[in-house]
Formats: sequence, C-alpha cells, structure tokens
Amino acid sequence: HTPAPLDLANVQGDILSGLPKKTQTYVFFQITNSNAFRTALAHLVPLITSTKEVVGHRQSIADNKAAAARNSHEPPLLEIVGVNVAFSQIGLNTMGIKDDIQAEPNPFKAGQLKDAQNLGDKGVTDKSGNFVPDWIDAFKHPVHGVFIISGHDHPSVSKKVHEVEHIFGVDGQHPSFKEVLKVVGDVRPGKEKGHEHFGFLDGISQPAVKDFDKHPNPGQETVRQGIILVGRDGDGDAKSRPTWALDGSFVGLRYLFQLVPEFNKFLLDNPIDLPGLTREKGSELLGARLMGRWKSGAPIDITPLQDNLKLGPNAKENNNFRYQGEIDSQTRCPFSAHTRKTNPRADLEDLPPSKGGPVSNETRRIIRRGIQFGPELTEEENCDHKTKHGRGLLFVSYQSNISNGFQFLQHSWANNTQFPPRDKSTVIPGFDPIIGQADGAARHVTGSNPQAAGNQLTLPIDFVVPKGGEYFFSPSIPALRDTFAL
Ligand code: HEM
Repeated sequence: HTPAPLDLANVQGDILSGLPKKTQTYVFFQITNSNAFRTALAHLVPLITSTKEVVGHRQSIADNKAAAARNSHEPPLLEIVGVNVAFSQIGLNTMGIKDDIQAEPNPFKAGQLKDAQNLGDKGVTDKSGNFVPDWIDAFKHPVHGVFIISGHDHPSVSKKVHEVEHIFGVDGQHPSFKEVLKVVGDVRPGKEKGHEHFGFLDGISQPAVKDFDKHPNPGQETVRQGIILVGRDGDGDAKSRPTWALDGSFVGLRYLFQLVPEFNKFLLDNPIDLPGLTREKGSELLGARLMGRWKSGAPIDITPLQDNLKLGPNAKENNNFRYQGEIDSQTRCPFSAHTRKTNPRADLEDLPPSKGGPVSNETRRIIRRGIQFGPELTEEENCDHKTKHGRGLLFVSYQSNISNGFQFLQHSWANNTQFPPRDKSTVIPGFDPIIGQADGAARHVTGSNPQAAGNQLTLPIDFVVPKGGEYFFSPSIPALRDTFAL
C-alpha cells in the first residue's frame, strides 16, 4: 500500500534539514540492559528534535530578521538544542528488534568494521585471517548506537548530554548504556565558518528532496524522497522492509582524521606551473583542482583558473555547473577532483550507449551532515608541516541504502582509478586525492595541470585517514515511540 504523505513531525531533524549547529556532541554507546534502555527510550522520545521543529526554527529566524529590517518587534528567539538517535544492526539485535530492515547483501547488516577492507582502509590481517583496520579501539568493538546532540554553545549542549545520560541512568547505580566514545565537534571559528580543516567551504552541494526542498537552487538536482528516506518513492527495497521502518534513514558515519599541515606542504611543494601564475597561486590552483572547488566554494568548472570570492558563497550560483562537454576533458576540472568523483553530474548522463550510458546519478545521492573536530592548526604545526593534534571531519551521510550511497561513492568511485568513465579519452583519472584509498598504497592522479592533463601526479601520503565509523539507522519518531520504546 502507499504510505500517507510525508509528515515532517515524524522524521528526525538531522536528516532532511540538518540540526542547527555551532557545536555537536556524538555519544557512541553500548546498551548494557536492553529492557531498561527501551523503557527509558520512552522518556527520550519527547526530546527528539523533528524536521518540523528545525524547519519552524529556521522560519522564525527568517521572520525575526525581516522584522528587524522593518524595525518592528519580534519575540526574542529561543535557540534549540537538537537531539537525534540512531542504532547499528547489533544495537537493534541487542534491543530484540528482530525485523529485517535491510535485505542482504548490505553492509548495514554486517557493520562497518567488516566493510573496512572493502572501503580501502589501512589495516593488517590477524592470525585468524581477519582484516583488522587501523582504527581506534572504540570502533573495533560493537557500537550499538549514537546520540547526536547539537546546539549553539558548549554549555547548552553539555547540559542536554547530561539530561540524556540521566534518562538512561548513566549517572546512577543502574545505567542502561555504556558510553564507548564521545566526540565533540565544532564549526570552525571566524572566517573559517563552514569550511572544513583543509580550508575549503563545505556543505554546498546537497540533493534537494522532492516536496520538501520546494525551491532548489540553480543546478541543485531534486531526488525522490525514497533516495534518502526508507519506504518512500525511490527506495528500491521499500517492499521488503517492516512498515515501522518508514521515514527512517541509514547513516554512513566515518571518523576521518585530516593531515592538514602535510596537505598544505604538498600544495606548497607542487605548485601548478602556468604562465603568469606565481608559485603561491600555483599551489592554490593545485588545491582547487584536487577538490573541484576553490577554498571560497567557487566551482572550478565555472571559474577554472582563479578563485571568485563573490561566487563561492553565493547559493544561487555556486552549484550551477555540470562538467558538461567535458566527458573527455579535464581542462576545467580533473576527472579525479573530489567533487567530480563523488558527484560526476553530466559525466554519466553524457555517456554514450556504447559505454553503457546514459546513467542517472539519482540513487547515488546522499545528504551530508557531520562536523569538524579537533583544534585549529598551531604555529608549531604550521612551521614543522607536521600534525601534532588530531583533527578532521566526523562525516555523516544519510541515504535509504548504504550500498547505493556512501559505500558506492567510497568504494566504486573514489577508490576506483578508472572512474569517471570517459568516452574517447584514454587518460586514467586516478584516485580521489582527498578520500580515495587502497590500504595505504601509493596514489596517483591525472589532470592536476590543465595544460598537461595526462601527466600523473603522485600523492606522497593519504591526507585523510579513517580511524573508525559505523553504519546506523535513524528511525522515524513514531518508530522510536511505538516500536522501540517499551
Ligand atoms: C563535496 C571535503 C569526505 C562526498 C565536498 C566539498 C568539500 C569536501 C570541500 C565541496 C563542497 C560541497 O560541494 O558541498 C571533504 C573532506 C572530506 C570529505 C575534507 C574528508 C575529510 C567525503 C566522503 C564522501 C564525500 C567520505 C563520501 C564517500 C562528497 C560529496 C560531495 C562532497 C557527495 C558533493 C559533490 C557535489 O555534489 O558536487 N567534500 N569531503 N566527502 N563530498 Fe566530501
């Protein structure tokens, strides 16, 4: 049967709208007493922030701004501190929730630890022949779930974390979960707001979701709701899932460390040599060509040789490009650039039938959330070009199917040196220089120099180092209340 139209009050707030955040705390846990946990869950449900609340909050901010502009009085705005929760397959098993929400084969069921080798993470094979990734311990043991707590400052978020811990008795004699890891993430300060640690503006390109994002920006493609939400139109597995799974979403979470001073040094040492470019500008260009955008966010497909600080942050213009007419060329953007690898736009649609095209990207789209963790670069790190303090991206993606979304992007696109497919060009793209990986093996890319696009550039190290992660399911609020809670 067809489900009732989407009700935003049912969907956890991080998925479609993104919890408002300056800082976020991720509490990863193991359930130690299933009955007590599920009983306590009933008290957590009223705290869960829905998409409807987030949308309402954003509307009030807009109304307040408009009122301020008119000089009229609006009630002062209350900041919201968002709470969301998601569970791994082992977490569902531990709670005794037996319905299969995902048909096999799918990495959700086995968990990310078992998928690490396939994702290209570095590791060793132990005596029993099992691959053990080079991860932190917390992710090498079962993680049952994660609370995502998000807000405008540390005190309000800490207070909410304690409130959640209290509900589950974690501060008392009979805790029902054990915390295995807490990660505090912060949006970067000042002018770096919205930029990831390498310095590039992030979170620009997201798919619009049909009937939710009603006014997509130019170039922003709309996907069916079931690409992100389970059970909706576009979710290929909708029929095989229990009805309570409707409006949940799978979470591909990765704990990614970034070697920022090493990355900067590599750019400094390998400036692109073009007539009229200073060494410094040549390094800047190399960075932009590895990422697919300039630090400001301006896409190199639109402005290939110099940054455009007005275009970068302008949502009406900064996503309006498709690598069109470039299926055999990396003059404007390298085939391997991070943005082209993870969303090849027209590349697959322009593929001729003789090469298996045209192919739609729709089922490969994900919504990216997550946050930066770790401190800003220190003087010492800057001078020595060596990382001393861990920092990076707690990468969070939402999709209705992990194997179509995150796993495919990492394994079959970023790590696949032949991707994206070309029509006539025989130049091999190489790895995604940001996230592409093969168990620590040396990586090459082409296309870094627009005037010698076939030349190969060797990347000395992996600048992004995965240290863990898990696949979770973020259930709808009715599922939490009526199926999970006792
Ligand atoms: C886009 C950085 C990890 C998938 C971007 C952008 C930046 C960036 C700067 C451009 C801004 C934008 O278009 O929103 C990073 C860094 C990472 C990382 C520094 C690791 C530390 C990942 C991972 C995936 C991924 C693990 C998925 C496997 C994407 C996608 C886009 C994107 C799908 C949008 C491409 C487009 O639609 O044009 N990333 N990213 N990223 N990234 Fe990443």
